[in-house]
Amino acid sequence: MGRGQSPIFNDNKLKLGFFSPNCSGGMAVTKAPGRWVNSWPNNIELAQLGDRAGIEFVLPIARWIGYGGETDFHGSVLETLTWATGLLAHTEKISVFATVHTALIHPVVAAKQLATADQLGGGRLGLNIVAGWNKPEYDAFGIALPEKHSERYALAQEWFDIVQRIWKHDGPFDWPGRFFNLKGVYGYPRPFAGAPPVMNAAGSAEGRIFATRNADFLFCISVDLEQSRQEVIDIKQAAAKQGRDTGVFTLAHVVCRPTKQEAEAYLHYYAEEQADWEAVDNLMRLQGMHAQSFPAEALEMLRGRFAAGHGTYPLIGDPDAVARELARISETGFTGCTLSFVDYAQEFPYFRDEVLPRLEKMGLRQPLAR
Ligand SMILES: Cc1cc2nc3c(=O)[nH]c(=O)nc-3n(C[C@H](O)[C@H](O)[C@H](O)COP(=O)(O)O)c2cc1C
Repeated sequence: MGRGQSPIFNDNKLKLGFFSPNCSGGMAVTKAPGRWVNSWPNNIELAQLGDRAGIEFVLPIARWIGYGGETDFHGSVLETLTWATGLLAHTEKISVFATVHTALIHPVVAAKQLATADQLGGGRLGLNIVAGWNKPEYDAFGIALPEKHSERYALAQEWFDIVQRIWKHDGPFDWPGRFFNLKGVYGYPRPFAGAPPVMNAAGSAEGRIFATRNADFLFCISVDLEQSRQEVIDIKQAAAKQGRDTGVFTLAHVVCRPTKQEAEAYLHYYAEEQADWEAVDNLMRLQGMHAQSFPAEALEMLRGRFAAGHGTYPLIGDPDAVARELARISETGFTGCTLSFVDYAQEFPYFRDEVLPRLEKMGLRQPLAR
């Protein structure tokens, strides 16, 4: 199997992945009793459902400290490299990503862990690189989070250069760098097929330079699809100037029900009446202070969307409406979209049965042999 055979490189015009099922609550900051339980059996069930339905990937969040509130949103998180390795062993076709904080995991350790997981998965591992933003986590590790984004991404670049060198270089080498000083380093085995697909989700200008230089896919939050259109063009042009082709994904939360009324009623229940507002406010405060993923002026307006799905794009309604919005996402220029549900494993089968066939009819995805 070559790198091109990882399902994330398939021909589907609109690629789909699950986001954040390794975290308690998933993406919904809610106290509702039906919220996602990130147990290992639930994660296997979801990954296998996605695998059989032709979903391209599962993407976890690497999180070390929760956001507090009554539920301590993301207070329980399955560590992503061990989680990915386990899921690869339990699935057949789907790509499983691991998310690595470059300041927290030494590149020599990461290169070997990633290669090991990719061997086990027959080339289906993916790598999401995070340069860091969540200061309380850095405090927990006793590591300073650099104020300047340029410093965060300088370290991330050196980290990734080392990882790639380990994967490509024959025999031991020295690395007298700015952040790492390594002697006689090498690492075998290599990843299964050269190198796993790389994702990055930077929002800052410095981060986007890093992403277009290094990543196969960049994630972009969409507040409004019309506004995203130019952003996607800009990212693709910046990548093309470097001779690279960077796909751009966005993120969405889904409430799909037989009728619009049912979908909206459930949204109102879990993301208004039952929202964990204290956790929502903590999450938004930290995002606003240290990350540039969301436009500053949009943050306050997005409080409801944070409760519903961590600030991602809403796909709320009956199957026709959800499929139509996904088609708009594709038409905006996005390569694909992540999906989250309040209870992923309970709600995905309805999406699979009702929305996927509609996307196939629209020519956005290849029909699976069912
Ligand atoms: C799809 C997606 C996945 C992300 N995954 C993580 C993660 O697992 N851990 C984390 O600390 N940050 C994660 N982030 C945050 C980004 O990696 C990035 O640090 C943040 O958006 C700030 O961007 P900036 O560094 O350019 O300001 C994610 C963001 C998105 C949109």
